[in-house]
Amino acid sequence: MTTGRSDALVFFGATGDLAYKKIFPALHSMAKRGVLEARVVGVASSDFSNTQLVERARASITEHGGGVDDTAFAALAASLSYVQGDYRQAETFTRLRTALDGATSPLFYLAIPPSLFGAVVEGLAAAGCTTNARVVLEKPFGRDLASARALNATLHARFEEESIFRIVHYLGKEAVQNLLYFRFANAFLEPIWNRHYVENVQITMAESFGVEGRGKFYEEAGVIRDVIQNHLLQVVGFLAMEPPSSSYQEAIRDEQAKILRSIQPMRPSDLVLGQFEEYRAEPGVAAYSKVPTFAAVKLQIDSWRWAGVPFYIRAGKRLATTATEVKVELKAPPQVVFRDAAPSMGNHVRFRLGPDVVIGLGVSAKRPGEGMAGQATELSLARQHSADEMDAYERLLGDAMNGDATLFARQDVVEAAWGIIDPLLESSRAPTPYPSGSWGPPEADLLPAAVGGWSNPV
Ligand code: BG6
Repeated sequence: MTTGRSDALVFFGATGDLAYKKIFPALHSMAKRGVLEARVVGVASSDFSNTQLVERARASITEHGGGVDDTAFAALAASLSYVQGDYRQAETFTRLRTALDGATSPLFYLAIPPSLFGAVVEGLAAAGCTTNARVVLEKPFGRDLASARALNATLHARFEEESIFRIVHYLGKEAVQNLLYFRFANAFLEPIWNRHYVENVQITMAESFGVEGRGKFYEEAGVIRDVIQNHLLQVVGFLAMEPPSSSYQEAIRDEQAKILRSIQPMRPSDLVLGQFEEYRAEPGVAAYSKVPTFAAVKLQIDSWRWAGVPFYIRAGKRLATTATEVKVELKAPPQVVFRDAAPSMGNHVRFRLGPDVVIGLGVSAKRPGEGMAGQATELSLARQHSADEMDAYERLLGDAMNGDATLFARQDVVEAAWGIIDPLLESSRAPTPYPSGSWGPPEADLLPAAVGGWSNPV
């Protein structure tokens, strides 16, 4: 097993989109905090020089990293080098080996299409680079259960599970971690966090923007593979899991795996698919594409705690707003005591996971004045992002370099998530078109009709 902090960070796909939007800004923030302390090697097929890579890093940080800090940037630039090469050719890895000379515990970040993972892993192994190494990869981890297993077999041929870090960046978000923290750091929630008090759970991931130049990627993924199989099922896991024992490192991931294994495979009859009207005109998208950009699903958890409580999930592009929110709706009191009061009015726990961070307790309170009439109100705890808050990628990169896999998807969790999703992927149904700026196709509203419909994030 690989131990100690990684002393080199190699990222494949150095001239690509993910490096530009996320990796350079994360490295710059690490340098700013004084924790980079590793050589950084970018690898890609483009004919770049070291200087060009440094300039690309500068542009990336200016655009996506909140601006360049001269001292931090100088430290990053001094540790950065570039290796050009084809991922399928042995010489690329020989050159990389030379660039890594002296490093004893490298971390390899595969910011490249999954179809190239196998070639890179084999290239690294053949060049003797996998000893005491770690590997980080981006979702989607396969396209379905069978391909996820095949991918795991490829990785496990060269790396132990403890050295594989599968990034689902949602788990690195402050707000998502806070969900877990809030659940288990406060005792008052536990007695009501079950089928006796919870009526239903709704998770909405709405984005008002479209596929933003990622049409080619999106055609391969679609909304279910892009965010439901990973981000949103991981959120369900945090919401629904049993309390993890705090005594060993894998406790959280064990509970995550257990809860995902107890979710029934989703049924196509509990699924609504949509596609925003302009999607087919996006670059890289087929003229008759049936790829969904919106999905709403209902799922059930087969556990003592959650039996009979419906969980509704919906996610989509070009919706009415950009917000990710969890709403745990509580049951109405058993009796109407005050004639004027709507008993179930507003009883909920709400977690706003982005873009802002809010935890809200929805309650009914008496409206001031004569009579016992009520009004819905919310006790809420809102937090603005602070300027020096760690971005999910910075946190996850640091964790991977330290060998802490808590916030990464373990193989069995990934496979359990595919097991839930697989039946939906077989659906050949065409998605219903929906106008941009709406809440998706109207059929989606029928899914939670039994519990009073969706609660739209404001
Ligand atoms: C990515 C998806 O994983 O997550 C995107 O591929 C999505 O389609 C994005 O927009 C949302 O993440 P965030 O952190 O911007 O809310």
